[in-house]
Amino acid sequence: MKLVLLGLGQVGLSLLEILQQKRFNPGNTKFELKAVADTTGVAEIKSGTSIAEILAAKKSGGIQSLAGWLPGRRVKEAVTEIHADVLVDCTTTNFKDGQPSLGCFNEAIAKGMDIVTANKGPLAINMKNIIEAASRRGTTVRFGATVGGGTPFIDFGRICASTYEIVEMRGILNGTTNYILTRMDEGVSMESALEEARSSGLAETDPSNDLRGMDSAAKIVILANALCGCSYSISDAAIKGMDAMEPALQAAAKSQGRSMKLISTYRREDGLVAVAPEIVSLSDHVNVSGAYNALTYRTADGNEYTLIGTGAGATETARAVLRDLLSLPHPVGE
Ligand SMILES: NC(=O)c1ccc[n+]([C@@H]2O[C@H](COP(=O)([O-])OP(=O)(O)OC[C@H]3O[C@@H](n4cnc5c(N)ncnc54)[C@H](OP(=O)(O)O)[C@@H]3O)[C@@H](O)[C@H]2O)c1
Repeated sequence: MKLVLLGLGQVGLSLLEILQQKRFNPGNTKFELKAVADTTGVAEIKSGTSIAEILAAKKSGGIQSLAGWLPGRRVKEAVTEIHADVLVDCTTTNFKDGQPSLGCFNEAIAKGMDIVTANKGPLAINMKNIIEAASRRGTTVRFGATVGGGTPFIDFGRICASTYEIVEMRGILNGTTNYILTRMDEGVSMESALEEARSSGLAETDPSNDLRGMDSAAKIVILANALCGCSYSISDAAIKGMDAMEPALQAAAKSQGRSMKLISTYRREDGLVAVAPEIVSLSDHVNVSGAYNALTYRTADGNEYTLIGTGAGATETARAVLRDLLSLPHPVGE
């Protein structure tokens, strides 16, 4: 399976490390890296260039030192100029217009390539059109890594939805804010909790998408579209982030033996897609602490299923990307 990899940050590099170690099943799937790209540009991977050399180049100054460096190219040209089967997108999420990934997705689909993405941006902006275009062209878009890091919220939801429609989803979809809220419950200030999340690698350098609820909103939009036949974009979501939270409310919740959580909700009945801080009881299944995520799926027959798991982490997310790659409809060994 020939890959073009966009993004060599925490997730992209973790994916390369996993591919280098070849510790996955089915281990006989052959991956061939054809190009890598980051903000500096694009390098074609010449035969004979090892993953170790790519990792070393990135860590010691840049991919410009690789033999296949293509001067003056940007990510889009990695898709248009390089022959590959799959576009793997591990670039930074852009919730304004989804670019440059959205343009890359369109080019990849036009060329008949499959797409595996950890980047929520293009799907949060234009998921319906991407999936429909891919379907018309006969290609596949997999996005298991966009929600829940390594915890398979999308795949689990598909199983729940296989016999009865999902009519409601509700839960915590952002590990960074859940960690901060948990620490605040323990008496730590928001600033210190954010600093802890940063230094442990949980929070990004710029955590504003997490704090403002954008990340949680993108995830509930992707889930509703993938599992409930919706056509939302992030602009349809009612979003209140942690930054809009009244500190006094958290103290009040604690004094009542309850917790303040950043809750994402999809409800079919009135078409609600929303993110907002909510007071939840300790017996609520989605009341998980630390960096955990939890989502309850309610089906039309009244059943409820809750999945709990770690929400973020570069290695877990890279494994989710790999899981999606392995599930693409390619013959084993290709
Ligand atoms: N880390 C996690 O736990 C996690 C979990 C779930 C989903 N995700 C998603 O996975 C994606 C990657 O996350 P990450 O943590 O690996 O991010 P990261 O460490 O910040 O890396 C982002 C990579 O994207 C590249 N990039 C950014 N803008 C670009 C552009 N315009 N053209 C080409 N390359 C560009 C950067 O290039 P440079 O190296 O040159 O800066 C960098 O290599 C994000 O969309 C994130 O939301 C991450």
